[in-house]
Amino acid sequence: MSEDERFVSGRPKRSDRESIALRPQRLRDMVGQDLVRENLSIIIDAAAARGESIDHVLFYGPPGLGKTSLAYVIANEVNTNIRVTAGPAIERAGDLAAILTHLKKGDILFIDEVHRLGKAIEEILYPAMEDFVLDIVIGKGPAAKTLRLNLPRFTVIGATTRLALLASPLRDRFGARFRLDFYDPAAIEQIVLRAARLLDVEIVGEAAVEIARRARGTPRVGLRLLRRVRDYAEARADGVITLKVTQDALALLEIDHLGLDDVDRRILSTIIEKFGGGPVGLDTIGAAISEESATIMDVYEPYLIQLGFIDRTPRGRACTEHAYHHLGIDFPEDPSAGQQRLL
Ligand SMILES: Nc1ncnc2c1ncn2[C@@H]1O[C@H](COP(=O)(O)OP(=O)(O)O)[C@@H](O)[C@H]1O
Ligand SMILES: [Mg+2]
Repeated sequence: MSEDERFVSGRPKRSDRESIALRPQRLRDMVGQDLVRENLSIIIDAAAARGESIDHVLFYGPPGLGKTSLAYVIANEVNTNIRVTAGPAIERAGDLAAILTHLKKGDILFIDEVHRLGKAIEEILYPAMEDFVLDIVIGKGPAAKTLRLNLPRFTVIGATTRLALLASPLRDRFGARFRLDFYDPAAIEQIVLRAARLLDVEIVGEAAVEIARRARGTPRVGLRLLRRVRDYAEARADGVITLKVTQDALALLEIDHLGLDDVDRRILSTIIEKFGGGPVGLDTIGAAISEESATIMDVYEPYLIQLGFIDRTPRGRACTEHAYHHLGIDFPEDPSAGQQRLL
């Protein structure tokens, strides 16, 4: 199954277009992440009071938690233009130069997947972020000259699922860095209820609780589940999202009561059954279930770690006793088999 088809993935899918309409516009529309919101509003207010543009901001954390939304929210809050691009989209130095020279004072440049910028591009970005200058090389060989252009003061907002892959000089140029964490079910419940209102679907409270419980702490997943349950309610019931409708729809999608899908369960059962519970390297797990290790690391694993089902050890991933219980497999009593992997 490709990442795009994987239902509980936090990554955007084509079918998520509708959810763009659900995107929060202002900080007050955002639910949860209280600390991040509070800190951002301080940064925004302070910059406004000084009449300056805000410092460069970096958001990092698993997919679907609101990084892109926050970039747009900030642009709305400071009432400025936002120019959107992504690390892999900026291939040549000239691409970045073109973007930078078109920015106006106070504009926001949102760079998604900022860890995927090429080295040469990063070198141009450093002085642009730090001193608001752009060095352009004109000509070739000994006759080449460097021309220094002044740029207006602008703000870079970066987003990444992989902070560790970000070159440290780049990381350091973001004055404000925020880690987004999984949401608690109560926050997801609020997000689901708000979306149901915006989509004009009737949902009972218990159903919102149920969807929230299975949304892996991820707003994007919660909204996606809501839309699938709505489809089911319209096709197989009278359109109202009741608890029963929700349970039946999610059972058909093979999403269990913790929000784990078939792929999550395969990851766990592979570690347990093929590799004695681990530790086993990510690449080996990936090969065994035909998934890219990068995808496992970004999308699948963070929630399994959060649940306490997987431990990340220096020698690889190991399943905990909780994972055994969840899959209904007996946890080995034999310490040499059972405990060894927890060393
Ligand atoms: N705090 C939040 N409150 C309400 N909706 C949210 C929140 N965070 C994310 N969402 C919703 O979840 C979806 C995914 O968020 P997004 O910003 O695209 O995540 P990311 O960029 O981190 O992958 C968006 O459609 C947005 O509407
Ligand atoms: Mg995003």
